Amino acid sequence: MHDLVLAILHHLLFLGLIVMLASELALLRTPEPPVKRLAGLDAGYGVTALLIVLVGVGRVMGGKGWAFYEANPFFWAKIATFALIGLISIRPTLAILRWRKAARTAPDYVPPQAELTAARRAIGLEILLLIPLLAFAAAMARWPF
Ligand code: HEM
Repeated sequence: MHDLVLAILHHLLFLGLIVMLASELALLRTPEPPVKRLAGLDAGYGVTALLIVLVGVGRVMGGKGWAFYEANPFFWAKIATFALIGLISIRPTLAILRWRKAARTAPDYVPPQAELTAARRAIGLEILLLIPLLAFAAAMARWPF
């Protein structure tokens, strides 16, 4: 029962993560992205990622137990992919925080095109990396085959 609740939370948080990333990408594609809204979405993305880790740790400790996951190559592949996504997200997050600061003093502020392009690329890559992450999650749950 405990693991069922964590599993439902894990999936819902993942859904939230996708919605926030996709919304950020859509806003970044508009000619004058609303910086405040972007900053809100990015903060929500950070909190959701943190909650996924906390719920994930709860699932590792409950259910099949640490010994199962420690020896599971797909668990480590999933964690490595998650960490990579986290690393890639640092640059766009710092850019969004800079834009937010600039927009506080100049309400008409529009971020530089080069920075918008870089943020779009990084977030697009993060979304793409969720595909192998999901595959690793499914493989991890079924390992050894
Ligand atoms: C964006 C990040 C993540 C996504 C998209 C994700 C996705 C998933 C999915 C789809 C499953 C269900 C697999 C299945 O039963 O077919 C799952 C299970 C699980 N996840 Fe995650 N996960 C993420 C992050 C994490 C993290 C960071 C941890 C651990 C620290 C974790 C620990 C687990 C555990 C323990 C299970 C149960 C697997 C089993 O039944 O043996 N997840 N995850």
